[in-house]
Amino acid sequence: MSETLIRAHNFNAGPAGLPLEVMQQAQAELLDYKGTGMSIIEMSHRSKEFEAMINETEADMRDLLNIPSSYKVLFMQGGASLQFAMVPMNLRPAGASADYIVTGVWSKKALQEAQKLGPARAAADLKASNYNGVPASLDLDSSAAYLYYCSNETIHGVEFFQDPTPPAGVELICDTSSDFMSRPVDVSKYAYLYAGAQKNVGPAGVVVGILREDMLARVPANLPVMLDYKVQADEKSLYNTPPCFSIYMVGLVMKWIKRLGGLSAIEARNIAKANLIYNAIDASGGFYKGHAQPEARSRMNVTFRLPSEELEETFAKEAKKQNMIGLKGHRSVGGMRASIYNAVELADVEVLVQFMKEFQKKNG
Ligand SMILES: Cc1ncc(COP(=O)(O)O)c(C=O)c1O
Repeated sequence: MSETLIRAHNFNAGPAGLPLEVMQQAQAELLDYKGTGMSIIEMSHRSKEFEAMINETEADMRDLLNIPSSYKVLFMQGGASLQFAMVPMNLRPAGASADYIVTGVWSKKALQEAQKLGPARAAADLKASNYNGVPASLDLDSSAAYLYYCSNETIHGVEFFQDPTPPAGVELICDTSSDFMSRPVDVSKYAYLYAGAQKNVGPAGVVVGILREDMLARVPANLPVMLDYKVQADEKSLYNTPPCFSIYMVGLVMKWIKRLGGLSAIEARNIAKANLIYNAIDASGGFYKGHAQPEARSRMNVTFRLPSEELEETFAKEAKKQNMIGLKGHRSVGGMRASIYNAVELADVEVLVQFMKEFQKKNG
């Protein structure tokens, strides 16, 4: 007997919902990938089928992001958190310092990790304003090895819509984990950008790194192989067994983004979804209060408060009863957070906004 599928309105911050048609394709191919009689997770990563799949995933990503041929695309493990250490290990030459823009939990962690391994400083730290925006000015070191920032702080819900400009000769590096492929970006501005896949482009387990080739000259000779960008680049992400299933899923998501019309179409969808919630917040007469300054409001993670913690608790509970999942804010900040990554549909956001209005009517 077939039952109607009920999918949650999934506002999880990551891992997060994936497009239904991607999940269905993965399900359909799970037992027999392209007539091989095997699942993609049952075959060798040295097989011609796997090689074709990873190459196609990379080609589609290059196409969508318009990645110049002078850049390497790396599929790595260890989560975005391992990149906090790998970036300075690989790209900060001995004796040099690095600059970090601290706009929330993730850039702070990246700075702390870099400081364990050598000199690094904050070019700005917005702690005093509880990380509710992006800095108006930077205290930049013109001899820094690089300037690092996080384009979207997932926990605080603040996003850069204008890239910071490093001094001449200083390279730009970006953690774009939670807004990766949510809009077009000019890859050529960056020496390196990276993202954990588990928000916008796939399941947990794979990190995508996009590295300008000449940066490989900075990689020191004595790094452990698994922490060495040069090894990953030379071996085309296949030095060891890669996260096969996660890469395959990223590949399916690339095709889905292409079917939707590419990154400009995805951006338009994401703007429409974000506007819907922020407009509801602004029209609530102060019942809902957005955390981020309007100009830095994340299109991916909408953070807001209610008049009391009790009401926030009730909001999350009642939303859950109506199949809206993942709305409780991160434990370090509190309040609510609606994560509305690429796969979240406008219809999901409409359900949430309707709920917000009704909740206010009952409790306002
Ligand atoms: C912006 C950002 N950077 C880094 C991380 C850390 O990612 P991971 O859990 O893959 O190490 C996260 C996790 O949510 C994140 O949102």
